[in-house]
Amino acid sequence: MSITQSATSADDLRRLANDHLWLHFTNMGGGQAAPIIVRGDGCYLEDVDGKRYLDALAGLFSVNIGYGFGEEVGQAALEQMRELPFYTNWTYAHPRAIELAAEVASLAPGDLNRVFFCSGGGEAVESAWKLARQFYQARDGLPPGQRYKAIARDIAYHGTTFGALSINGVEPLRAPFVPLVPEVRHVSNTNRYHRPPEETEQEFTAFLLDELERTIQEMGPETVCLIHMEPVQNAGGSFIAPEGYWRGVRELCDRYDILLSADEVITAFGRLGHWFASERYDIRPDIVTCAKGLSSSYAAIGAVVATERVMEPFLTASSMYTHGITFGGHPVMSAIALKNIEIMKRERIMERVLGNEDAFRRTLGQLLELPIVGDLRGAGYFYALELVKDKETRETFSDEECETLLRGFLSPRLFEKGLICRADDRGDPVVQISPPLVATQSEFDEMTGILGDVLAEAWEQVH
Ligand SMILES: Cc1ncc(COP(=O)(O)O)c(C=O)c1O
Repeated sequence: MSITQSATSADDLRRLANDHLWLHFTNMGGGQAAPIIVRGDGCYLEDVDGKRYLDALAGLFSVNIGYGFGEEVGQAALEQMRELPFYTNWTYAHPRAIELAAEVASLAPGDLNRVFFCSGGGEAVESAWKLARQFYQARDGLPPGQRYKAIARDIAYHGTTFGALSINGVEPLRAPFVPLVPEVRHVSNTNRYHRPPEETEQEFTAFLLDELERTIQEMGPETVCLIHMEPVQNAGGSFIAPEGYWRGVRELCDRYDILLSADEVITAFGRLGHWFASERYDIRPDIVTCAKGLSSSYAAIGAVVATERVMEPFLTASSMYTHGITFGGHPVMSAIALKNIEIMKRERIMERVLGNEDAFRRTLGQLLELPIVGDLRGAGYFYALELVKDKETRETFSDEECETLLRGFLSPRLFEKGLICRADDRGDPVVQISPPLVATQSEFDEMTGILGDVLAEAWEQVH
């Protein structure tokens, strides 16, 4: 059968999906037909059978302006298609990539002024590590292979290409692909919930920074080129750093002359109420990686943003960042990202997120009354609920319990009730909530209502 336009009936789509479409991170022999999403508006999606869902995950933490701007963004894409459907950033420039680079530089904190485009988040992480490796060669005349190691954090997700996967701290995703790219070590993340209850915030910060410094010393400071961390770590459930952590990480990077890279693939472009979360937490990174929200996922575009200091060694006639991607800075993708930023400004997305974040947190906070909800953490429009077996002792569920609870019950039940969010157990079991940034109190209420019902049912199931 030849499919040139779009498949017509729901049954046709299901059959064709079953026969041809290989889904990501999906057990294809699982026997369950994948939901087929056909349209979206605002914070809502509709499936092929006409059922509506509140998307409390914004696609993949990424559709920041929601699904309702297709017409306007599409017009910008169409105009760009007419003018110049493609050209490359390999030695050439074109207006949209230039304008987008200037726009991103103007929104990024400090002198993060130099923008290298790629096609997504993993590629941005990959590019950041390669950039850090070459930075020391270009700056110090070091031969390759001397300063190449990276440090990241446990359970942190940074993508799936080999470099990004090696930086990734999610063990089950790494395991099938060893040997990975040498050499990355992972330090503790900033999950405070399972630390000793008597530990103060200052003590926690000191513990984390001591461990980081010890790791740098053990690896050999002169061999480490990059420390790569998210401002708020997603995997494990919206871990916010304790007071003094970022100041300390910056100091260690300065002391040992290591580049600090903030992975803002999720956190940039409004998720935490700022264009870049590095600004909110005063992280002062040398490199930022971003993607998803840059175009609100209306386009496949990511970027590495570097400071003037990082760029400087590459400004001599004899040095070059030896890296390139065909679609990096694609004119249509750039036009879409520019339109997305224009919409974000016009709709006052940053102000809205900051203005609503307390109400959002308060609304979700009602769920803490449930016996299964141990912790609510996060900021902006980026939250996680940690599920526990025993609230007093903070005892978590076993692997088998997680399997039945999260994959067996919670995910399908939430979906059945019309709510898309993520039940995840890459660390301890959490429900992640990260809606489009246009969500308002009525969506906060709706998602909290459904979550409340389903989590109460889940508690009955495990007892
Ligand atoms: C923090 C972070 N970095 C990198 C990535 C990888 O992005 P992509 O899936 O676009 O390759 C993700 C994806 O979720 C992410 O959350």
